[in-house]
Amino acid sequence: MTSTTADGPALAGEELPGKEEGRERPDGDPFDADALPASPGATRALLASLLAPMRARVVVASLLLLVQQAAVQAGPLLVAYAIDSGVPAFRDHDYGPLAAVGIGYAVCAVGAGLLQYAFIRAAARINQDVLLDLRGRIFRHAQTLSVDFHERYTSGRLISRSTTDVESLRELLSEGLQELVGVILSFVSISLMLLWLDLGIGAIAVASFAPLYLLVRGYRRRAVAAYSARSSAMAEVIVKFAETMNGIRPVQAFRREPANDKDFAVFNRRHERRNGDALLEMARYVVSSRLVANTAVAAMVLWGASRVASGTLALGVLAAAVLYLRRLYDPIDRLAMFLNSYQSAAASLEKIAGLLAQTPAVPEPAAPKALPVLTGEHPGREVTFEGVGFAYRTGGEVLPRFTLTIPAGRTVAVVGSTGAGKSTLAKLLARFYDPTQGRVLLDGTDLRDLATTELRRGVVMVTQEAFLFSGTIAENIAIGRPEATPEEIEHAAKAIGAHDFISSLPDGYATDVRKRGGRISAGQRQLVAFARALLADPAVLILDEATSSLDVPGERAVQRAMDTVLHGRTAVVIAHRLSTVEIADRVLVMEHGRIVEDGSPAELIGGTGRFAGLHKAWRESLA
Ligand SMILES: Nc1ncnc2c1ncn2[C@@H]1O[C@H](COP(=O)(O)OP(=O)(O)OP(=O)(O)O)[C@@H](O)[C@H]1O
Ligand SMILES: [Mg+2]
Repeated sequence: MTSTTADGPALAGEELPGKEEGRERPDGDPFDADALPASPGATRALLASLLAPMRARVVVASLLLLVQQAAVQAGPLLVAYAIDSGVPAFRDHDYGPLAAVGIGYAVCAVGAGLLQYAFIRAAARINQDVLLDLRGRIFRHAQTLSVDFHERYTSGRLISRSTTDVESLRELLSEGLQELVGVILSFVSISLMLLWLDLGIGAIAVASFAPLYLLVRGYRRRAVAAYSARSSAMAEVIVKFAETMNGIRPVQAFRREPANDKDFAVFNRRHERRNGDALLEMARYVVSSRLVANTAVAAMVLWGASRVASGTLALGVLAAAVLYLRRLYDPIDRLAMFLNSYQSAAASLEKIAGLLAQTPAVPEPAAPKALPVLTGEHPGREVTFEGVGFAYRTGGEVLPRFTLTIPAGRTVAVVGSTGAGKSTLAKLLARFYDPTQGRVLLDGTDLRDLATTELRRGVVMVTQEAFLFSGTIAENIAIGRPEATPEEIEHAAKAIGAHDFISSLPDGYATDVRKRGGRISAGQRQLVAFARALLADPAVLILDEATSSLDVPGERAVQRAMDTVLHGRTAVVIAHRLSTVEIADRVLVMEHGRIVEDGSPAELIGGTGRFAGLHKAWRESLA
C-alpha cells in the first residue's frame, strides 16, 4: 500500500534516482546500504565475459598502441644520432645522415599520429560495444528479477548501476587503460633506452622508481578512503535532491522548504569538503612525486654534464638522455588519474556483478506444466490455496496457514481492515511471491510449475495504482494483447464505461499518456486499467481496490460491466466499498491474515458477525 495518498498515485512509479533511499541510514552511503555481495571471482568473470567476444579486436588495438609507442620513443634516439653523427658528417659535406634523420623523424611523427588515430578508433569501438552490452544486461536482468527484489533494491540504485557505474567503467576503458598501457610501455622502453645509451644514467633512472613506487602505493591507499567518502557524500546529495523533488507536493503543502534547504546545505557542504580532501590527496601525491623526479633529473644532468666536460660522454647522448628523462617522468601525474578511475571502475563493476548474480526469487520452472485446455462455456479456472502460509522477507508472518478453494467461475469478495493481508493474498495468487509454506494451485497445477507466460495470460491483477506506460491510450489498453484490433480495444473501453472520456481527449484513443497518465485523472486511469484487464481476457481476474478512485456512477458502470465480464470467470474482488461486494457469490472477511468469516453475502448480512456489522454501518452511512 504505497499510493492513493494525497499526492495521488501518479507519482508511484515515476521515480527519480534514489527516491526511496532517503529512508535508509542517514549517515551511510545509501547506494551501498544494501549492496549485494559479489563473489570474489564474479567481477573478473564479468569483465572477461564482456571482453571475450572482442578478443581479436583487443589484440589489434594493443598492437597498434605498441607500434605507436615505438614510433614516439624513436624521436630522442634520432636526435642523438643527428648530433653525434649527422652534424660531423654535415661538416664534411656529407648530407646523407642528417637528411635520413629528418625523414626518419617526419615518418615517426606522422606514423605515431596515424597509429594513435587508429588506436583511438579501435578502442572507442570496443568500449562502446562493451558498455552497450553491459547496460543491456543490467536492464534485461533487472526486469526478470522478482517483485521481492525490487522492493529491497530501489529503482534509484538500479538507475545508479546503469548510469554512474557504467559511466565509471567507460572512463576506465576509454582513457584509463590507454593511459596505463602508455605509462608502462614508456617506463619500460625509456629505461631500456637509457640503460643502452649510458649504463650510469640508466641506473639512476631505474633507482628513482623505488621511491616513486612507494609514493604510488601510499597514494592509492589514501585515495580509496578519500574517494569513497566523496561518493558517499555525493549519494546523500542526490538522495536529498530526488526525495524532495519527487515529493514536491507534500513538501509545499507542509511548507518543508526551509527545513529541506537546511538539510541540503549540510549535505552539499559535506560533499564539497570530501571533494576537497580527495583533491588534496592528489595534490600531495603529484608534488612529492615531482620532487623525486626532478631530483633524479638534476642528479643525472649534473653528472652527465661533468662527464661531457671530461670527455667520457658524447654530447648527443646527454641531449637524448635529457629528452628521454622529461618523457619518463611526465606520465607520473597521469598514473594518479588512472588509479582513481581504476578504483571507481572496480567498485562499480563489483556492484554490477552483485546485481547480475541475483536470481529471481520467483523462478521460472525447469519443466513447465501445461494447464488443461479450457472448454468454451467455462472461461474460469479453479483456484486453491493449500495450507498456504506467507511472510515477507522483511517482516513477520502475514498469513498463517490457510486453505481455500474457489471453484471455477465464481466471484469471491475479500473484505477486512487495513493491513489484514488482502493484497498479500492477491499477490500470492498472481505469483508475485511464492508462499513460504503450502501451495497455490490453478486447476490443480502448482503456480510454481507454470511457465510465466501461461501464468500471466491466465491470471491478471488490477490494482489501485493503475500504472500507465508512455504511449497512446489504445496501446495502454492493448498491453495484455498487443494483437488486438482497434475495434476490440474500443469494445473493451465501451464495456467498462471508459469510451466517453477517451473520445473527449484531444486525439481520442491515439492520445499520448506520456508522463505516466499525468493528463488524465486517477479514476480515468483506473478505467483504462480495467479495459486493459478485460481485453487480456484472463481465466482468473483479481481486482485489488480497482475501483477505489471512481465516483459512484463510475463504479456502478464498472459493476454493471463486471456482471457480464466476470460471468463464468474466476474472480477475486478486494474492496472497501461494500457495494462492490454484492455481486460476489461468496464473501471472505479477513483479520490479521486469517479468514474469520466465509459465506454468501446474504448469509453474512443476515448473521451477527463482523460483516453484518460492517454492512449495517455502511447502510446507515448511505441513508
Ligand atoms: N512488501 C512488503 N514487505 C513487508 N511487509 C509487507 C509488504 N506488503 C505488506 N506488508 C505487510 O503485510 C501486512 C498485510 O498487508 P496487505 O497489503 O496484504 O494488507 P491489506 O489487507 O491489503 O491492507 P489494505 O486494506 O490497506 O490494502 C501488513 O501488515 C503490511 O505491513
Ligand atoms: Mg491492500
